Amino acid sequence: MSRLDSFIRRMQAQRDCLNHVAPLVRAMPGPILEVGLGNGRTYDHLRELFPDRAIHVFEREVRAHPDCVPPDRFLFLGDARETTAKACDRLAGAAALIHSDLGTGDHAANTEIGRWLGPALDRLLAPGGYVVANQPLDVARWVRLPEPDGVPRDRYFLYRAG
Ligand SMILES: C[S@@+](CC[C@H](N)C(=O)[O-])C[C@H]1O[C@@H](n2cnc3c(N)ncnc32)[C@H](O)[C@@H]1O
Repeated sequence: MSRLDSFIRRMQAQRDCLNHVAPLVRAMPGPILEVGLGNGRTYDHLRELFPDRAIHVFEREVRAHPDCVPPDRFLFLGDARETTAKACDRLAGAAALIHSDLGTGDHAANTEIGRWLGPALDRLLAPGGYVVANQPLDVARWVRLPEPDGVPRDRYFLYRAG
């Protein structure tokens, strides 16, 4: 598969997984967390899916499209390993949905991120809340959900907190 095909399939999987959980997330209260702003594409999509929800963003360095930069009060700027801990002051156990996309193309780096990321996100997730992630995350109280139709197994990862 060409890198272009692989990129397109990853974007489709992101969009399809976010669209898939959207009605479930709308049925519960709580803010949305976007972990890894990047270009701001999925942040923009989350704004469309959840126009009435607060969307808090975690990003080391903002380099998004100018239309997709969150307001300062919704931005946790810095290393997510630290900012997710700080966010617990305001958001512990609150999030209805966390979309996590911190990944790089570096498998070893992603594995290292995965070690701390699951527990860090779990502290911010509401009971029954949803996680959509670009990498597998191992948290005992989370149940892995099946991917929506058309998304191959292990391309993107969906969880629900027990
Ligand atoms: C793949 S991009 C996100 C793309 C985004 N979902 C989009 O649709 O445009 C990953 C982002 O995560 C950020 N990132 C990676 N590791 C991080 C960390 N430990 N703390 C904060 N941000 C991090 C990078 O700076 C990068 O902007």
